[in-house]
Amino acid sequence: MVTIGLLHTTIRGDEKLILEAAKKRNVKVKLIDVREEIFNPKNYKIDFDLALERCVSTVKGMQATRFFESLNVPVINSSAVAAICEDKFITSLILQKAKVSTPEFALVFNTKQALKAVEQMGGFPIVIKPPLGSWGRLLAKVNDIDALEAILEHKDVLGSPWQKAYYLQKYVKKPGRDIRAFVIDGKTICAIYRHSPHWITNTARGGIASNFPVTNELSKLAKKASDAVGGGILSLDIFETDHGLEINEINHTTEFKNSERPTGVSISGTIIDYCIGKVKKL
Ligand SMILES: Nc1ncnc2c1ncn2[C@@H]1O[C@H](COP(=O)(O)OP(=O)(O)O)[C@@H](O)[C@H]1O
Ligand SMILES: [Mg+2]
Repeated sequence: MVTIGLLHTTIRGDEKLILEAAKKRNVKVKLIDVREEIFNPKNYKIDFDLALERCVSTVKGMQATRFFESLNVPVINSSAVAAICEDKFITSLILQKAKVSTPEFALVFNTKQALKAVEQMGGFPIVIKPPLGSWGRLLAKVNDIDALEAILEHKDVLGSPWQKAYYLQKYVKKPGRDIRAFVIDGKTICAIYRHSPHWITNTARGGIASNFPVTNELSKLAKKASDAVGGGILSLDIFETDHGLEINEINHTTEFKNSERPTGVSISGTIIDYCIGKVKKL
């Protein structure tokens, strides 16, 4: 019998779906609340075949992943994949290097260079994001120099060291939506549109999900992007542009609970099947 160690913090609806899917497949799940663990390799007993990292906290998830990998436990997603996906600048660099279509971006550390970077990218509006962030938090669409200076000064004076690395991205005019593709082992199993009257379309910010019938163009681009970051269980944020689809960012601990119904695909079931397949190959 396969046993999966589920590394978690708060159990969300997504983890509940994963637990149900595991039960249906007769897979044993050991719940590991990383907040309560003592990660001392000298005393740690491993009684599961593979770990599935589902922590809400990126930092806790990453440290737990590195701990189990050091004990030769396979973790999905691997720390190598997580290290790329948790940082938007690194993701962009990897996508660019792999020639995967992605919006133009730059990283700068001061306002003077930010202004020059904006010029290089064709001018305002521009989007500024914390390189490490999610749920559409602390994103700024900046329309002019005054706003750019104000945002950067606030980050500089009030922000943590990470807020002082300014990740800039060209603003992409979207048709009131973007696409979220669920990609497991390089295959796009389903995708949704996220509609919103606001330019930030995250469902965590009120975006509404509807089915996006997966196209060849999307599958091909998603496979290329997944290969570039090292594969595993991923969700990709994708923009529709005049010159085709562009990958905005890649998430390595994907939230999917609102996407099973519109797509009719058991994302949780596919996650468990992927884990079973991995264990069988060990
Ligand atoms: N460059 C951009 N142009 C237009 N819209 C953007 C841009 N970047 C982000 N957005 C919008 O904001 C949302 C959140 O941005 P994203 O980069 O995915 O950060 P997060 O990690 O917070 O989800 C995207 O899904 C999209 O709707
Ligand atoms: Mg996103």
